[in-house]
Parts: sequence; structure tokens; C-alpha cells
Amino acid sequence: MKKIVVALDGHSSCGKSTTAKKVAQELGYAYIDTGAMYRAVTLYFLEHYIDLTNPKKVQEALDNIEVTFHRNSKTGRNEVFLNGLNVEDEIRKMYISDKVSEVSVLAPVRHAMVAEQKKMGKRRGVVMDGRDIGTAVFPDAEVKVFMTADVGIRAKRRQQELFEKKQLVPYDEIVDNLKKRDFIDSTRAESPLKKAEDAHVLDTSYITVDEQVDFVLDLVASALLHK
Ligand code: DC
Repeated sequence: MKKIVVALDGHSSCGKSTTAKKVAQELGYAYIDTGAMYRAVTLYFLEHYIDLTNPKKVQEALDNIEVTFHRNSKTGRNEVFLNGLNVEDEIRKMYISDKVSEVSVLAPVRHAMVAEQKKMGKRRGVVMDGRDIGTAVFPDAEVKVFMTADVGIRAKRRQQELFEKKQLVPYDEIVDNLKKRDFIDSTRAESPLKKAEDAHVLDTSYITVDEQVDFVLDLVASALLHK
């Protein structure tokens, strides 16, 4: 059977990764969390005090970064590694969320990540979630979905997720972070967050995860039928 690319883009914390993981599992495809790549780069920049206003330092740092994904055989999760070190838990913390949009706005960072993502999906058979997958990474993706949800609902879900990881973060702080990231992500010059013209909009405010997954799988079925 032919393999396709499934691109899930959209606002922060509207269920992209949950949906993408389940769709990938259903199809037997690889799941690539591109946000995790930008988060890992942010962690490296913070740990090495990289001056974001100095393009030479930014490029030097990028040349020293390798971001990879490895499957955890115990949990079955695809986890992210920065230069060989598992950083899956660290990159989900609030101090990374606070900084990641400032790092991912930088053109050299985007060029490096987009090139890497294109390589990862070269043989297709991938579900990728992010902000610019359907517009910049795989403009020829067979299935494109643009996900969104009410910001208050997104913040509540995010707060619950963080709580489950033993991180107590006030609701207002999460709302501010989501709004700030959405703003920076959608107004940046280089591959901004925007709906691809041929993307299907999926508002997850009032639907279940199963419904989100079915929405995408229906699109996949019809894309495979017409391939
Ligand atoms: O999906 P996430 O919340 O983990 O992503 C973290 C940040 O990374 C997000 O605020 C913007 C950036 N990002 C991006 O610019 N392009 C992508 N394809 C994925 C994420």
C-alpha cells in the first residue's frame, strides 16, 4: 500500500500530539513531534547561554546540535534526545515553553529544523505535527489538518497535563503563555503558523480525542483511495 504524509498543524495545546500519536499508531506510521525539536534546541540554547541576537553564535550552536527520536520500549513512546541525552521530560517544562517561540522565530533555526524534518519524512509514512508542516515542510502532504480550540479550554487541558507531571502552574500563566506563543508563531516572517489553503479545519473545543482521530483517519482513507 502507498504511504502518505499526514500534516497536523495548529495552535498550541489543542490536541495535535495526542491525535497525531494515535493516528500514527493506527496507520503503523512514524510520529514526528516537530515542536519537541524546537524545544530541544531551546534547551541547548539556554544551557549554553547562546545570545539569540548573534547569528554567528546561533549557527555555531546549531552545528553542534543533534536532535533524534528513539522509541522507549517500556512505554512505546517516541522520545526526544538532544546530543544523545534523553530530554523528553525536561523540554515539557514551563521555562522551555516560555522561551521556545523566541528561539523558533530565528531563520537559521527554522532552516535547520525544516531540512531535518524533510529528511525524516522523505520516504513518507509519517504523521508530523507542528505549525508549518502543511505549508513549509510538506506542502505536498496528502492530508493536511489545521487544528484549533478555544484558548480557555486549551489552557485547562494543558494545566491538567502539567499537573499529571507534578507541575503546578496557575491557569492565568498558562493562558498568557498560549496567547504569547500563538502570537509569535503566527506573526513571524519565516514559515509562520497559518492554515494551508488546502487544510481541513478541526476545532477540538467540544469533541473527544476519538472524534479527532476519526476525523483525520477518514481523510487518510479518502486520500489513500484517490492515490
Ligand atoms: O507543539 P509545541 O507546543 O510543543 O511547540 C513548541 C513551540 O515550537 C511552538 O510554540 C512553536 C514552535 N514550533 C514551530 O515553530 N514550528 C513547528 N513546526 C513546531 C513547533
